[in-house]
Amino acid sequence: MDYSKMFRLDGKVALLVGGASGIGEASAQALAANGAHVVVADLNSEGAEQVVGTITAQGGSAESRVLDLTDAAAVKDTVTDIARRHGHLDIAVSSPSINVRKPLLDYTQDEFERVVRVNMGGTFNLLQSAGRLMSDQGGGSVMAFSSVRSQVVEPGQSIYAATKAGTLQMLRGLASELGSRNVRVNAIGPGVIDTPLTAQIRKDQTWYDAYAQKSVFGRWGKPEELAGAVVFLASDAASYITGIILYVDGGWTAADGRFTPPL
Ligand SMILES: NC(=O)c1ccc[n+]([C@@H]2O[C@H](COP(=O)([O-])OP(=O)(O)OC[C@H]3O[C@@H](n4cnc5c(N)ncnc54)[C@H](O)[C@@H]3O)[C@@H](O)[C@H]2O)c1
Repeated sequence: MDYSKMFRLDGKVALLVGGASGIGEASAQALAANGAHVVVADLNSEGAEQVVGTITAQGGSAESRVLDLTDAAAVKDTVTDIARRHGHLDIAVSSPSINVRKPLLDYTQDEFERVVRVNMGGTFNLLQSAGRLMSDQGGGSVMAFSSVRSQVVEPGQSIYAATKAGTLQMLRGLASELGSRNVRVNAIGPGVIDTPLTAQIRKDQTWYDAYAQKSVFGRWGKPEELAGAVVFLASDAASYITGIILYVDGGWTAADGRFTPPL
């Protein structure tokens, strides 16, 4: 084992869906900086192109692709096309999610279906297409973003939290199904990270501060602080890791945060 290269991704091809913004964008940059060729796929074509521009300006290798993760046929085409052109697909990451923050009693059927369709349906599409391809080629690493909300909730987060717990269980199930094919399947569980997804919270100082204090660091996380987890789980350094959720939450799930005793 060459320990100096265990985190390197040279020669690997990665598909990052949702790579135009936030955590996905930082993860795409980190995968490329560590040697992977990255396909930055997103609904937002301009954003994806911009991320590719940043990667290539820094000497990395990347291409953009417009993709709606909820379109199963398009996801399958994308995965097949990458494998045809590059010969293999080694890393697949599902980042897109949406949230409608409101009490369950006030949710409309349409809102419920939209959140479930993107967060769980979209991730299912990538798990199925990338999982099948990686199973056939005899290896790979698949990841999706779950959340601290897979474990703990608060008012207004029921449906989003349910999709994050559901995503985690889908990943665990697939990990158990594809282990014999050398395909690793893992979840990453961010705490609260400053991205467009959390813009609504940032606008409310009380809400923003309460979330900062829930971390033992007393602050929000930054998108780039998630990127190391993605590179790690993509790399050979994680060759015996599958079916886990790796929390990157600033201690959110470790400390209940009610009170600091006067000791
Ligand atoms: N930001 C946080 O505090 C936080 C906390 C816990 C978990 N997460 C999870 O991390 C992941 C990334 O979140 P983020 O904050 O970076 O989000 P973000 O909103 O910044 O980025 C999401 C990206 O996904 C794209 N997207 C949305 N729907 C799509 C679709 N159908 N097909 C293709 N692309 C689509 C958007 O265009 C955007 O580029 C999500 O799964 C989220 O649930 C985020």
